[in-house]
Amino acid sequence: MNKRGFWKTRSGFYLAAMGSAFGLGNLWRFPYVVGENGGGAFVLLYVLLALLVGLPLLIGELMLGKFTRKGVVMATAEIMSSHAKFFRWTGRFSIVLCLVVLSYYAVICGWVLYFLTQFWIVLWAPMGAQPGSLGLLQNNGWLQMGLASVHILVAMTVVMRGVQDGLERWIGAVMPVFVVLLTLLTIKSLALPGAPEALRFIFYPDFSHLGWSSMSHAIGHVLFTLSVGFGTMVTFGSYLRVDEHIPTAGFRVAVMDTALSLIAGILIFPIALSASNAPLTDPGLLFEVVPRFLFSMSGGVLFGLAFFICLYLAALGASIGLLEVIVSNLTDVFKVRRLASVWLSGFFVLLIALLPGLSTTLLKDFNLGKKSLLENFDSILINWCLPIIALAFAFTIVRGLSQIDKKKLFVDTERIESVALFPHWTFVIKWIVPSLIILSLFLQTLGLFLN
Ligand code: PHE
Repeated sequence: MNKRGFWKTRSGFYLAAMGSAFGLGNLWRFPYVVGENGGGAFVLLYVLLALLVGLPLLIGELMLGKFTRKGVVMATAEIMSSHAKFFRWTGRFSIVLCLVVLSYYAVICGWVLYFLTQFWIVLWAPMGAQPGSLGLLQNNGWLQMGLASVHILVAMTVVMRGVQDGLERWIGAVMPVFVVLLTLLTIKSLALPGAPEALRFIFYPDFSHLGWSSMSHAIGHVLFTLSVGFGTMVTFGSYLRVDEHIPTAGFRVAVMDTALSLIAGILIFPIALSASNAPLTDPGLLFEVVPRFLFSMSGGVLFGLAFFICLYLAALGASIGLLEVIVSNLTDVFKVRRLASVWLSGFFVLLIALLPGLSTTLLKDFNLGKKSLLENFDSILINWCLPIIALAFAFTIVRGLSQIDKKKLFVDTERIESVALFPHWTFVIKWIVPSLIILSLFLQTLGLFLN
């Protein structure tokens, strides 16, 4: 008997997939990676690669889940049973990736919680209360760890309740509120004096600003923000209802997520450019520039509180996606109870989080280059490991599923466009996706020697 849950409603899947896709990647990571890579030209590259690499892989991952009705570890092991171990283990690698990514993601979520409380305190405190800053927080490693732990406990509580009772109901309640808040904030931000300059920065493509690693930064970020290469979408696909058309579902998720990233850029850059001439390339961009500006603006405290509540809910949705994958795979593979695997996963996430969490205090001597451990976690995992795992996924989808099965999963005879698109998707996932990923890794490696 199949004991896996199914999404009760069609919107259940969309809400969970969007909740997992939309997170700190869009609001925290996208703006500073765009800044780091010079603006408009990178945004263009990013959108192109989202279509050419992100979307085809997203569709493929959903197919793996729907076809096997299993989590990513069992799914890849099953359909690649006649291939080399490396490919049978794609699922395992992606779970390790989830675990490590969630550990530093939780630290950043802790930063969000910190600013949320600062805005709350200033809102209620008597005149003149001094809010904290990112610098202050980073000087206190144990506070960072404490906040990351609170965040993980919240995510664990939701995941503990299982796919339908936890995820579906919860994210369903949060998403609409979130979209309304974000829209209001963006309108407000577009009225700022820095808006015209910001829009030019985001949308005017000056290709001379692209560097050797820009392409892999774009691919890494596309995969990260669409939650592809982590096995998340395999798990979500395994809960898909039989009548759900995968390419349509994948397309909607990819378009909405990309649109939300662009909106996040339109929201953040005017604030950043109106606030100061601060460099836009730092992971602290969101947390250094935005709160300082908001605290000094009249009515900014309430605005800021709304903004950080919004950000926290997005980050929580994404964390839940990551944790759900780890938990459901542990449950599948080791046949442990769900509760036990939730506690076990939470424990390991926090254990690993000690490295990025204490990277600005106790472990600050372990910096590599000019970057802290946390920044290195982010760039090594997302710009190197994730594209390599995605490459293995592309191979798994191409070789593990037969052409007939792929066609069955892709084509819906009532949707004539799916018949026409199937050969294109097959071509892209087989040739274009691997070529682009390999090219980007090659250029990035070259950049290491030439810079
Ligand atoms: N896509 C999320 C974000 O943009 C991060 C994430 C990755 C969530 C993988 C789940 C799985 O923040």
